[in-house]
Amino acid sequence: MTVSLAKPAASAVPVHLIDAAGFERLSAQLPEAMRRWMQATGFRGKADSQALLPDADGRLQAVWAGVRAADDPYALSALPRTLPEGRYRLGDQGLAADAAAAALSWQLGAYSFDRYKATPRQMPELMLPRSAAAERALTVAAAIAQVRDLVNTPSEHMGPEELSDAVRAAAKAHGAKFRAVVGDALLKQNFPAIHAVGRAAARAPRLLELTWGRPKDPLLVLVGKGVCFDSGGLDIKGADGMRWMKKDMGGAAHALGLATLVMACKLPVRLQLLIPAVENAIAGNAFRPGDVFKTRKGLHIEIGNTDAEGRVILCDALAYGAEGRPELMIDLATLTGAARVALGGQLPALFCRRIELARELVDRGLTLRDPLWHLPLWRDYHASIESDIADIVNSGRGPQAGAITAALFLEDFVPAGLDWLHLDLYAWNDSSRPGRPAGGEAQTLRTLLAYLEQRFGAGRA
Ligand code: BES
Ligand code: ZN
Ligand code: ZN
Repeated sequence: MTVSLAKPAASAVPVHLIDAAGFERLSAQLPEAMRRWMQATGFRGKADSQALLPDADGRLQAVWAGVRAADDPYALSALPRTLPEGRYRLGDQGLAADAAAAALSWQLGAYSFDRYKATPRQMPELMLPRSAAAERALTVAAAIAQVRDLVNTPSEHMGPEELSDAVRAAAKAHGAKFRAVVGDALLKQNFPAIHAVGRAAARAPRLLELTWGRPKDPLLVLVGKGVCFDSGGLDIKGADGMRWMKKDMGGAAHALGLATLVMACKLPVRLQLLIPAVENAIAGNAFRPGDVFKTRKGLHIEIGNTDAEGRVILCDALAYGAEGRPELMIDLATLTGAARVALGGQLPALFCRRIELARELVDRGLTLRDPLWHLPLWRDYHASIESDIADIVNSGRGPQAGAITAALFLEDFVPAGLDWLHLDLYAWNDSSRPGRPAGGEAQTLRTLLAYLEQRFGAGRA
């Protein structure tokens, strides 16, 4: 842990927070030498910049950290990679620090995926007095790190079975039940669409299920797209499109991360986590363009494109999840390239039948700096996924509105009246920012947790 919850050692170096607006006023109160040092080194309190101040003997006496705001979730994220190793604590000059934001931002800034690095870098340590807020922040940071790790792990080491192991481990850690329906058992237990997508891979497809909570609490279903590698199937992707498809289980990683938070925070819900885990591979028995499959719900789907595999595996999981009549069902998926074209990688697309709920979530995401953006379930576009020979087809007729037609496809498997959120996300940072290194990323996790806490009530003691 690079953040430790303990009474800070007296020798720990204080970190004072400052913002650009308050810099003039605050620096006026500093000793002349310090003020001159800041000026000489160009420190003006800009977010993510820092001043390291020496004492008379040339030892590090204090750090001034420029922040957007003290409660910013990335307030201190630039520090772990900038400061020398050692122990630090929050200082009492400048802005009043926020323990939760400090813990979260420091921990996120210290994250790196070092599974394949011979010598992981040692990070400086932030010592924070123990508090409920700081503890919760570290729980959230751990869930975000888990999502990143799962996404960053190459397909070779994160196939359907390894994903299954991760879900099983979470179940064990929180006293939840775990079950996996593997290979041909998918056909016997009526998950034909999951089987169809995953049947060509050397690694068997499966449906992973974790259940947790007390029978009388409201049912919350979380569903995540677990395509451990998306080659595109027979409609094979080009090299550029395939390059990062180890991350196509990003939705599953998010669903597991959110489920872990629900359990760790003991939200008063009954939780059902569903992850269809497959590899979209090519072999003689691969599903083909033009094939028709009967799904769990009974609807027949025509395969227009084997690269639109996410919606195919999700439709059986959504149908199954709906059978328990949940109070709320959320699915998370790296579903379409079109969502990225529309909103870019930083803004997951949110689809929701209730416009006021969508707006509430968008606002919450902006407040928490964990954003998402609402796109419409525009019913008229459903014409684009109607099939000549089956009930629907898995790829839109033209190139337009691909994220919307994918969402409309899913909607056909969610009974009317059921409260449902669909998130089409990127699960990735193309480049690095403080606290958000290039590679796997958790998106909307903090926003969704806050929403669930508000809707169902905060955790049981
Ligand atoms: N996994 C991809 C979508 C994706 C691509 C997400 C890149 C994030 C980054 C998905 O399975 C896919 O290939 N979708 C196709 C659908 C099309 C064939 C109808 C797409 O978006 O191009
Ligand atoms: Zn695909
Ligand atoms: Zn995919």
